[in-house]
Amino acid sequence: MKIIILAGGGGTRLYPLSRSNFPKQFLSIDSDISLLAKTINRYRLIVDPKDILIVSNQKYLFHIKEELAKCNAEDCHIISEPCPRNTAPAIALAVKYCMDKFSSTGKEQFFIAPADHLIDPEEDFALRVLECMDYTRDGKIVTIGVKPTKPETGYGYIKASEKYKNGFEVESFVEKPSIDKATEYLEKGSYYWNAGMYSFTLSTFLEELKQHHVQLYEYLSTKSYELFIKDFEKLKSISIDYAVAEKSSRIVTVPLDIYWNDVGSWDSLYDYMDKDTDGNVQLGDCKSIDCKNSLLMSNQRLVAAVGLEDTIVIETDDVIMVAKKGESQRVKEVYESLKDRS
Ligand code: GDD
Ligand code: MG
Repeated sequence: MKIIILAGGGGTRLYPLSRSNFPKQFLSIDSDISLLAKTINRYRLIVDPKDILIVSNQKYLFHIKEELAKCNAEDCHIISEPCPRNTAPAIALAVKYCMDKFSSTGKEQFFIAPADHLIDPEEDFALRVLECMDYTRDGKIVTIGVKPTKPETGYGYIKASEKYKNGFEVESFVEKPSIDKATEYLEKGSYYWNAGMYSFTLSTFLEELKQHHVQLYEYLSTKSYELFIKDFEKLKSISIDYAVAEKSSRIVTVPLDIYWNDVGSWDSLYDYMDKDTDGNVQLGDCKSIDCKNSLLMSNQRLVAAVGLEDTIVIETDDVIMVAKKGESQRVKEVYESLKDRS
């Protein structure tokens, strides 16, 4: 069993705290260790570090080595992508590493994990992961489903159908729907959010790529790991959600009934944090008067606010970002429009 941790994303929706050279997975959100270190510790409840692979962009190599040293997990494998190509190529590269370096056979089980989530309690989650691994033996791609609480457009939506063991067969998967679709799914009730985790055996993964994403299948079946890296930039940039999950007919989902937050935006961070009696979250040196349901974060300077409602204010040494609560998914648009300044 191998755990592949995806740690190469830009964390653009947490701008300006998350930056292109120091993205979200390296930030410490709710404690003194980073989200990546929390993730590594989470999977060490199940496997040894030597069975954990961290796949990320080569520009984050230094940060990853630093995090591994901090949590005494230097035996984890690090796989460096020469350029960003999103999660489907990243996963395939890590799988190729296992095929070449560990001579993994078709029965090898993989669990794909994001590096930037908060989950509690971790021990219960570990049991769920083992259950997912068990189901991969039936040739399934196993996802984890979270009951939606709002029409969030930043997630994949899983439509559950027939019961399958302790979970459900998946009738359809829609990645990042429009707000109208997300609202419809929430009202219908038979949908889950995709928690962003996938497990499968090597043979299932290869069969699915052969059917739905031939370029990656050919890379996996014809190139060595070294050649895969050399030709990495020629790969189409696409996430596993669009490349496989939306197209596959062998997905099942195991519902998660514990706390899960992908810290995907300032709104989800607000949801996670303890609030004062006016519903405000104030982090760092903040002074607020008559503010309600707002998130204020100061990193360098005092943040003083009067009469704000449903507002997010994030202060860093070079940027002050102000957004309306409920719209923080769109911070990504600011990040992208700033290009090399972000
Ligand atoms: N190695 C590598 N390379 N990792 C990447 C890359 C890449 O090019 N791009 C993203 N990642 C990592 C991120 O660091 C994160 O840990 C994970 O892959 C998921 O990427 P996100 O960019 O955070 O995805 P998302 O949150 O928009 O959507 C995914 O997760 C949601 C739940 O959090 C999807 O799986 C959704 O369906 C899901 O609901
Ligand atoms: Mg995410």
